[in-house]
Amino acid sequence: MDSSEYIKKRIQSLTENSEEIRDQSPITNDFDSWSALKLILHSAAVNMYTTVLENNSYFNDLYYIDALAGSGVSTYGDTESCFLGSPIIAAKVAQEPFKKMYFIEYDQEKADALETRMEYVFSTHSDVQEPEDWEVIRGDANDEITNVVGEIWEESNNGFNYYCFIDNQELNVKWEAIEALTPKPWGDLLINLPTASAIGRNATMDPVPQELNDFYCVDLNEQDLPDSDIRPVMKQLYADCLAQNGRPVQRVTNVDANVGSYEYDLIYATRNIEGGNDYIEVVDYVKKFIEDVHAGDVDNILNVLYDGQASFEQYLPSEDIDDEIPDTRSERDENQTSLDDF
Ligand SMILES: C[S@@+](CC[C@H](N)C(=O)[O-])C[C@H]1O[C@@H](n2cnc3c(N)ncnc32)[C@H](O)[C@@H]1O
Repeated sequence: MDSSEYIKKRIQSLTENSEEIRDQSPITNDFDSWSALKLILHSAAVNMYTTVLENNSYFNDLYYIDALAGSGVSTYGDTESCFLGSPIIAAKVAQEPFKKMYFIEYDQEKADALETRMEYVFSTHSDVQEPEDWEVIRGDANDEITNVVGEIWEESNNGFNYYCFIDNQELNVKWEAIEALTPKPWGDLLINLPTASAIGRNATMDPVPQELNDFYCVDLNEQDLPDSDIRPVMKQLYADCLAQNGRPVQRVTNVDANVGSYEYDLIYATRNIEGGNDYIEVVDYVKKFIEDVHAGDVDNILNVLYDGQASFEQYLPSEDIDDEIPDTRSERDENQTSLDDF
């Protein structure tokens, strides 16, 4: 598949039918346009993950966990503009239906809205991959992740793997919950790290607030943290935690609004595989695209998301990924063995 087409499809997956799906409930999440960029990466990551693993004989059952699932739709500004939420995007772009999709949301109204929208999408949109089973779990992700992992172990007799999206806005999912996902069952993580707001703001306090300490695998009060330029240090520390817990292969995509207070990082983390992780190259490519778009301003982002064509092309990374995007029907995919050596 052509790389330009590939990125365009990812962007389309954010807004296609979004108004009709929004109208199923008055409840939505609030959004800002910078947040849309994370969903482009999520769309690419789910698409690649399911494409590569679908033909892998070791992992028969693929699961999806959305730890901070939201209401299924986000609106932004005073306009009617809206984007689909991560659970719906995942169901839309999956190359094969997941065995089960878990959606965890502790806000009752948002969880209800999500359930209504998922029911609607699965019953009316034939292009969306309905999983064998799905569940909206009303609860705190810090407790529920452990239960989900327990259920996957109980239910699956086959080899299994999962993709888990943790879209932190604040210090939402603590390290203990990440530990529950590790080291087995195996799975990939896409984590939104609130680098500026929640982390940068708190990391220079002495002592470090408990809430931030709970977010990391180490006691931050025992680390030699600098007084300034702390964000890169905190980012690296989190990446180190993920590496220690069996996911040393990482790609960090930075979204920085250049206004000082707004910055987040998306960490895609997976395990080391002999022979390499093919689909990481696609994450690399989308990372370059996202980082180029964000270097512009909000108008650029909106142009890319809504205008398509002209404004979009200029942000495509110069190198092509034509040879690197695994296509489900390609020979290359059938021969894909790099994930087999687990
Ligand atoms: C950034 S929004 C998620 C947006 C979603 N990923 C999307 O793309 O639409 C974070 C959501 O997590 C929920 N939330 C925050 N902390 C939580 C927790 N500890 N457990 C479960 N849900 C939580 C919030 O109510 C909010 O809807």
